[in-house]
Amino acid sequence: MKYAIVYSSQTGNTKMIAEAISKVFTKEECLYFGEPNYEKTKDADVIFAGFWTDKGSCSSVLIDYFSQLHNKQIVLFGTCGYGGSEAYYDSILQRVSALIEDDCTYVDGFMCQGKMPIEIRERYEMKMAEAPEKTKKMIDNFDQASVHPNEDDIRKAFAFAQIIKHSFE
Ligand SMILES: Cc1cc2nc3c(=O)[nH]c(=O)nc-3n(C[C@H](O)[C@H](O)[C@H](O)COP(=O)(O)O)c2cc1C
Repeated sequence: MKYAIVYSSQTGNTKMIAEAISKVFTKEECLYFGEPNYEKTKDADVIFAGFWTDKGSCSSVLIDYFSQLHNKQIVLFGTCGYGGSEAYYDSILQRVSALIEDDCTYVDGFMCQGKMPIEIRERYEMKMAEAPEKTKKMIDNFDQASVHPNEDDIRKAFAFAQIIKHSFE
């Protein structure tokens, strides 16, 4: 099996997960590691595709990339600002996997929380007087996210990729 790992990462969280996943593969097994690039991944059998969550889905870079892929096994991984809910992670994976072409196979997906830019917290703070309860929850979530991806997320991503690799052996 030939593998490729692509990722779209604005602030580095998803890249961290991509790096953890890459450690599962030898140089011979992994044809490519980097930004989505059809030409460089067209000979891979299994593609790990990573995304940062943008309004509940993945960025347009990945949508364009998925439209070029045919007859591939696709494994998703992503990071998102909201954490702690498997149901939320699943809903994102479901939305993103629906963007994969019908002749590709969606294998499985991994998600974890990822820190957000400080401007988002500042925007929340401005809403504190307006909706204190809701805003406090959002600020608490922001602060929880600020330490992710952490070592546990990295370890889980690595273990996830190992399971996927074994499933193709
Ligand atoms: C414009 C924008 C939109 C976002 N939309 C969402 C969203 O809908 N849901 C969510 O959970 N996180 C959202 N986030 C948070 C990011 O997905 C999260 O911080 C992610 O880990 C960033 O990954 P990166 O460092 O690889 O770019 C958004 C962040 C930005 C800047």
